[in-house]
Amino acid sequence: MNGSFTRRGFLRQSFAFSALAGLGGLSALAAPKPTGGGRHLLMAGDWGYENFKAQARVASAMQQYVRQTAIRTEALLMLGDNWYGPLPGGASDARWKTQFEDMYPKSVFDCPAYAILGNHDYQRMPGSKVEAELAYAKTPGTRWTMPERWYRFDFPAKDPLATFIALDSNMPSADGKWDKGTNFTLTPELQAEQLAWFAAELEKPRTTPFLVVMGHHPIYSNGPHGDTKTLVRDWEPLLRRHKVHLYLAGHDHDMQHLEFEGHPTSFVLSGGGGADLYDLKIQPSERGPMARRIYGFTHLEIAPGQLIVTHLDDAGSVLHRFAKKQDGTVQIAG
Ligand SMILES: [Fe+2]
Ligand SMILES: [Zn+2]
Repeated sequence: MNGSFTRRGFLRQSFAFSALAGLGGLSALAAPKPTGGGRHLLMAGDWGYENFKAQARVASAMQQYVRQTAIRTEALLMLGDNWYGPLPGGASDARWKTQFEDMYPKSVFDCPAYAILGNHDYQRMPGSKVEAELAYAKTPGTRWTMPERWYRFDFPAKDPLATFIALDSNMPSADGKWDKGTNFTLTPELQAEQLAWFAAELEKPRTTPFLVVMGHHPIYSNGPHGDTKTLVRDWEPLLRRHKVHLYLAGHDHDMQHLEFEGHPTSFVLSGGGGADLYDLKIQPSERGPMARRIYGFTHLEIAPGQLIVTHLDDAGSVLHRFAKKQDGTVQIAG
């Protein structure tokens, strides 16, 4: 939005990540299996596409991955753009079965699916898909978890290792406009209310070693949507101040991991869940260490002393893996 925070955000990345990767410090992580001893979450963004061929491929790769690695998935993170196109039946629409319950079945993922709202969810088709998603979360026995538009949860519920703050990144435009007919956003009042809540949550004492924030819109992205100016202004300083370990996002239909020199937060984008792909705007050689135009999903393992993040493609092959220590140190698997 203006030069000062653009400059701060774009601090030139002098990290030699490829050199780091070559150190072999994470050689054990290079194998396509988790380290063991951790707790596991899988995530996908931008998944509920009308043509769901790619979504089905990614979803079956997720299922296969869980079977092959024999991990117990204790949470799914659904990173927004949960529903593209019409949802005429609202919370009773048939797509809930075909594109959520059947794609990510309870037989494989017997855990809560923590969901956040994307811009495509903020559409009236014909009713508000936001309201439909909040209502579906109230269905008895459902795994779909969205108690509010923004919320906090600890993971795992018993003896938690990480605090998650799930946010609604659908900001009104700078002139305050929030209702554009089919498409809408948070109102300026809700935007302010959430920001105050977010800041207050970060101030609360925390017993968990790790802190993770998720929002559909990326703060920084190498994809065509680029960086989200409002979030760079409002959220990035909070992530920095409170040493948030990970910021998880979707929105651009690709897979990314961005690091900024001196920034405590690793920026993870998992937007390859099913919607059509498009080209990157910034190559990972310029800003990285990783950005790929590819379908996929992401595995987060919370292990003693470290988070392990793995991007996988729609065939279940590992694209990229890194470990994030509690002190913020990042190591890339070779
Ligand atoms: Fe999307
Ligand atoms: Zn989006």
